[in-house]
Amino acid sequence: MTGWRLRPAAKADAEALAAIEAAAFGPASWGGRAVADGLLERLVSAIVAEDAAGAARGFLMWRSAGDEAEILTLAVAPAVQRQGCARALLGALLAAARGAGVRSVFLEVDAGKKGAIALYAGAGFSPVSRRRRYYKSGADALVMRADL
Ligand SMILES: CC(C)(COP(=O)(O)OP(=O)(O)OC[C@H]1O[C@@H](n2cnc3c(N)ncnc32)[C@H](O)[C@@H]1OP(=O)(O)O)[C@@H](O)C(=O)NCCC(=O)NCCS
Repeated sequence: MTGWRLRPAAKADAEALAAIEAAAFGPASWGGRAVADGLLERLVSAIVAEDAAGAARGFLMWRSAGDEAEILTLAVAPAVQRQGCARALLGALLAAARGAGVRSVFLEVDAGKKGAIALYAGAGFSPVSRRRRYYKSGADALVMRADL
């Protein structure tokens, strides 16, 4: 699907986004409270992708700080993965960040998640460092950066 409708998230999206995050991340999920708290944080924004029926199916949460920004989380409902939703969300993020004067966008991704790493590489991110045993699971984190 290429027709994802993207819009800024609102407080009222908390429950729907928490459900997407839980389904996408499984045991590595942040939990509903953290997603809801993120939506209320200053400097944090989220972009929601809706399907043709207007249902939220994916979202990306990010934080800006001066000329740097960080992707906090990106999740797409399992039933609609590999349909370009994350690619659309990343494109919208990079456009918004550029518009806000951001020069570099960072993220951390589980070094074993080859699909996510391919997604980010395709959007212009390159690996810059590795954090050993960063996740509860014991997995390393790969730190990636895109220069705008
Ligand atoms: C990673 C994730 C966000 C990708 O979302 P998505 O909407 O399915 O991704 P897209 O359809 O936009 O994929 C764009 C490209 O990324 C790469 N990609 C995405 N998922 C992939 C996978 N599982 N395996 C291999 N490549 C993958 C491909 O290059 C893909 O292009 P293609 O489909 O034309 O080959 C989704 O799988 C997800 O929510 N996973 C669980 C949470 C997570 O790992 N989040 C990212 C780390 S914070």
